[in-house]
Amino acid sequence: MPVENTVSNHYLHGDLLKAIQEAITLSGKTIDDISVEDLAPVDEFHIGGRAATENLLGQLNFSQQHHILDVGCGLGGAARFVTNKYENHVTGIDLTPEYIDTGKVLCKWVKLENNVTLHLGNAVAMPFQNESFDGGYMLHVGMNIEDKDSLFKEIFRVLRNGASFGIYDVMRIEEGELTFPVPWAMDRSISKLATPNQYVEALVNAGFEVSKETNRRDFALEFFRILREKSEASGGPPPLGLHTLMKESTPVKINNMIENIKASYISPVEIIAHKKI
Ligand SMILES: C[S@@+](CC[C@H](N)C(=O)[O-])C[C@H]1O[C@@H](n2cnc3c(N)ncnc32)[C@H](O)[C@@H]1O
Repeated sequence: MPVENTVSNHYLHGDLLKAIQEAITLSGKTIDDISVEDLAPVDEFHIGGRAATENLLGQLNFSQQHHILDVGCGLGGAARFVTNKYENHVTGIDLTPEYIDTGKVLCKWVKLENNVTLHLGNAVAMPFQNESFDGGYMLHVGMNIEDKDSLFKEIFRVLRNGASFGIYDVMRIEEGELTFPVPWAMDRSISKLATPNQYVEALVNAGFEVSKETNRRDFALEFFRILREKSEASGGPPPLGLHTLMKESTPVKINNMIENIKASYISPVEIIAHKKI
């Protein structure tokens, strides 16, 4: 089976739209009054959720830009947030059909179907013309893509001169045996972590200039501490959350990820890059 299918099978839920609808009902909302904010606990599938997205976006100059690219967009939560905040069009691309199909419905629920376009496809061979986008970002995607050189060359190709590109990925920090499963892989076969230096090298090889690199370890550990505290205080997680995506495997995947971060084997890291003018 091609590796892309193994990756998208890993993310397959099977009945995701129904699960989200049921969780919305449990939370006392309906699909008619649900907002981009309400969906954030389930449609921002990365460490720190919406807060992490805002932190990355704050370092990118998207306010004057027309068309933004979301690489590995998942359900498109960040894309809906970006279009709401900066009033630009966002195009997302993702390998997992169920995420794209569900994401399109979520766009309709919050009336953003004309502002966000979600495509099914592979980030290393995107169906977009050269220099189509004024900026872009990628949230927790590179962990499943081995060939970072091809990935960043492809992203460089579709960005316009002067575009900025923000990355927020889980990266390899120190050597050591990782405990699986983690949210992006059941075992090492589809876990393709690279170090921040390897990311920077691949970006520079592709033609990017890298201006900043930030290890978000403390933010991540604090995020999970607060999440756990809230969950214990209310006798369980809220209806809508990452457990809606990962089902019963959620606690073990999240706990392993936290332990791997605490051991300094991995960490979420931001990198800000620019396509030189
Ligand atoms: C952890 S999820 C993050 C989703 C989204 N960026 C977010 O933060 O909510 C990882 C996503 O990367 C996507 N992905 C992995 N490899 C990909 C590839 N080669 N091309 C496009 N998407 C990919 C998966 O389908 C999945 O939706």
